[in-house]
Amino acid sequence: MRSLLVTGGCGFIGSNFIRFLFREAGFAGRVVNFDKITYAGNPENLADIARDFPDRYVLVRADICNRDAVKDALERWAVDTICHFAAESHVDRSIVAPEAFIRTNVEGTFVLLEAAREQRKSGLQRFHHVSTDEVYGSLGPEGFFTEESPYRPNSPYSASKAASDHLVRAYHHTYGLPVTVSNCSNNYGPYQFPEKLIPLMILHAAAGKPLPVYGRGVNVRDWLHVEDHCRAIWLILQHGREGEVYNVGGRCERTNLETVERICDLLDEMVPDQRLRPRRQFIRFVTDRPGHDLRYAIDCGKIERELGWRPSETFDSGLRKTIAWYLEHRPWVERVQSGEYRRWMQRHYGEGRS
Ligand code: NAD
Ligand code: DAU
Repeated sequence: MRSLLVTGGCGFIGSNFIRFLFREAGFAGRVVNFDKITYAGNPENLADIARDFPDRYVLVRADICNRDAVKDALERWAVDTICHFAAESHVDRSIVAPEAFIRTNVEGTFVLLEAAREQRKSGLQRFHHVSTDEVYGSLGPEGFFTEESPYRPNSPYSASKAASDHLVRAYHHTYGLPVTVSNCSNNYGPYQFPEKLIPLMILHAAAGKPLPVYGRGVNVRDWLHVEDHCRAIWLILQHGREGEVYNVGGRCERTNLETVERICDLLDEMVPDQRLRPRRQFIRFVTDRPGHDLRYAIDCGKIERELGWRPSETFDSGLRKTIAWYLEHRPWVERVQSGEYRRWMQRHYGEGRS
């Protein structure tokens, strides 16, 4: 692996992954970060990497739907490995405005696959596709998703990711493209865009703003610290078997209400502001998300057995670190929430939501 093209490397997981490659994994090759820089992408997330590794880190600002730009990047940088993160990733947005999800997640993945097929002649060895447990639909109170679970996507987001997974599978089956796929549960950690549950709740609770819990807060998510996810992807890239799917999860199920309450309690302890304690007072039950999946839970036995992966962060230690990170990075929060994000929220929800 000498030249790795990472799509969506300016986003939450992609930027953590690139930092992990340079700082933790001992990766000695070049990383080409191919990112359109939507509202969710921020080159500043990797400013330290651009500074410390100018010869081995390249940022290409372009759309994965742009065939010429993709082809040019693969050829120019002699790419031998692709790790595909780029996507529209937020379920609520996909309900309000699904079109961008179909374009980037389905069409964009198709364009990449076609370019990858061509690049095989020049030495492409692996196409890794980063996907989600949401493609499997929703669980009841019992059971787990395995790699054999049927696909039952319920939101425009998960349907678009399911379509991309199917295309990746088909390119392996039909053309022999050397692919791997990972389907992961909910991530949290630094650099997550503050529209997602955990960073949104941290920032609102820290400021004494309302904490909007959808429905009654009984929906369950299986939380995984982003660094554990990055380690899993790195293992799959190195040792995963071609054509295989690996489920990645935290074995850490929490109802949304439990998660929000824990954030409140940790903030009460870490920032003991008498005017805001107890922060649970700010919890508000609001209208539920349409089609809200009840429960996700991953059986990650396959990656544990085959690749020796285990999540290393506990929810409590991971949440503490994440809260500390958001409290220390308020200027980052201000910057990512300005501009495109604010304009989109105002267009779709009017004033008053942040
Ligand atoms: P994110 O929204 O934080 O980042 C997405 C990145 O992709 C951004 O940098 C954005 O600029 C870029 N991008 C979007 N459209 C693009 C396009 N057309 N061309 C090039 N770049 C484009 O997303 P994330 O949370 O980091 O998720 C990364 C991947 O992991 C996604 O494929 C997502 O489906 C998957 N995933 C996320 C989670 C999670 O909990 N966040 C869990 C499982 C899987
Ligand atoms: O499961 C993996 C998926 O996790 C990824 O594929 C997605 O890209 C990622 O966004 C995430 O999807 P969710 O919809 O689970 O994440 P979100 O942070 O939006 O919501 C988590 C849960 O919290 C969900 O049950 C909805 C609820 N929620 C969310 C928000 C933003 C609230 O109750 N209030 C909120 O304000």
